[in-house]
Amino acid sequence: MINTNLAGLRQEYSRSKLSRSSIASDPFEQFAHWMDDVLKAEIVEPTAMMLSTASADGKPSARVVLLKGFDKEGFVFFTNYASRKGRELAENPHAALHFFWADLQRQVNISGSVIRVTAEESDEYFQSRPFTSRVGAWASNQSEKIDSRTVIMTKVAKLLLHYASGNVPRPPHWGGFRVIPDRFEFWQGRESRLHDRICYTLNDQNWEISRLSP
Ligand SMILES: Cc1cc2nc3c(=O)[nH]c(=O)nc-3n(C[C@H](O)[C@H](O)[C@H](O)COP(=O)(O)O)c2cc1C
Repeated sequence: MINTNLAGLRQEYSRSKLSRSSIASDPFEQFAHWMDDVLKAEIVEPTAMMLSTASADGKPSARVVLLKGFDKEGFVFFTNYASRKGRELAENPHAALHFFWADLQRQVNISGSVIRVTAEESDEYFQSRPFTSRVGAWASNQSEKIDSRTVIMTKVAKLLLHYASGNVPRPPHWGGFRVIPDRFEFWQGRESRLHDRICYTLNDQNWEISRLSP
């Protein structure tokens, strides 16, 4: 083993608990409660989530993206449609989202099908981004190989001049995806690794709630 000291690192969890009687009957409401707690806790990147996708032949990939909104329609993030994740979602429109909030000793897993948000939604969010981020979306062929950082910085310099007016349209390859959940799992760390896990699965338009063994 390269570093044997890792095996001794251990964190006890005893901050809170989760039970069928205290959890909301609607998983979106439960997520909203936990997001409120996360925002109050003032942790770094509270909306960062691991997005897992897979190619048509089932090879998985994962990366962090930012949750930009959620409601009963689903969970929205924005990206480059031609990126690896964008290509995988085009051929296999299913994804898992994973939040780990260490300070709260909580994780949430969400999985479901994925659709693109409307062009209007993408336009609205794109135009709310800072000028340099909007220019960056034109400069970066996300996930493609480039020879050096100079390549992209040269492109950015040209684009900054091109869009000096400040008016940057949304690139057609950039926009949002909406994950429409059919499963949620809320996990609260507990003593001696006997964690609380409550799972919601969609069955005939109804959310069935079950407790899972830790
Ligand atoms: C905290 C954090 C937030 C990020 N947010 C986004 C995001 O909202 N959208 C995005 O496309 N990439 C985001 N990234 C970059 C992605 O993790 C990833 O590197 C990029 O999207 C390319 O992924 P892909 O090649 O697997 O498609 C973020 C990275 C971090 C660490």
